[in-house]
Amino acid sequence: MSFKVKDHYFKKAKKENYLARSIYKLEEIDNKYKVIPAGSRVLDLGYHPGSWIQYTAKKVGPDGQVVGIDIKHVNKKLLGLRNVKVFEKDIFDVTSVEDLGESDQFDVVVSDMAPNTTGVRSVDQLRSLNLIEQVFYHLDVFLKDGGNFVIKVFDSHDAQMFLKEQKSRFKEYNYLKPKSTRSVSKEFFVIGKGYKKSTN
Ligand SMILES: C[S@@+](CC[C@H](N)C(=O)[O-])C[C@H]1O[C@@H](n2cnc3c(N)ncnc32)[C@H](O)[C@@H]1O
Repeated sequence: MSFKVKDHYFKKAKKENYLARSIYKLEEIDNKYKVIPAGSRVLDLGYHPGSWIQYTAKKVGPDGQVVGIDIKHVNKKLLGLRNVKVFEKDIFDVTSVEDLGESDQFDVVVSDMAPNTTGVRSVDQLRSLNLIEQVFYHLDVFLKDGGNFVIKVFDSHDAQMFLKEQKSRFKEYNYLKPKSTRSVSKEFFVIGKGYKKSTN
């Protein structure tokens, strides 16, 4: 079944000139948990087409910066945003901030990454978990001590077990299914605040 359903949030995004309806998920998360401070530097994993980038670029303002990566071709519509840099890269190939032309870690990391789905539930859950593990395992590389984190997760027993193990790496750790997430969807978001960088 195609999910190009033109629902309320799809129409709202179009009307408000956002590149995707996903904007309203990040907006709700940020309104509730205050994850994206003005002036901060944000890394957006799986940014394409870029509604989260549109939101964060505005939120961080001219003193902040947003860097996005995605396996898809760079979305040229974002190139006019002065505080934004986007790359065509696979998360599995990015293992340092230098790979993104940066010398410092980010204040905030957000990931809305989703794998190509097959329709076979166990395969899709595994692919999703691989992406999530890759991001969590590289948080020390990307995220500053005390930083904030948002990641999309497709629910599964294994994902729940893994996420539980990660909880102690943050001062605050919450799960949220935003209102704009389709009711049939198995996705939810993990919001971590106050990252505790590993000491070793
Ligand atoms: C739901 S979309 C993101 C929508 C985006 N947050 C927005 O607001 O426009 C998920 C994205 O994750 C990307 N993605 C999937 N696997 C990836 C990987 N291994 N590395 C980087 N990006 C990936 C996909 O190409 C896709 O564009």
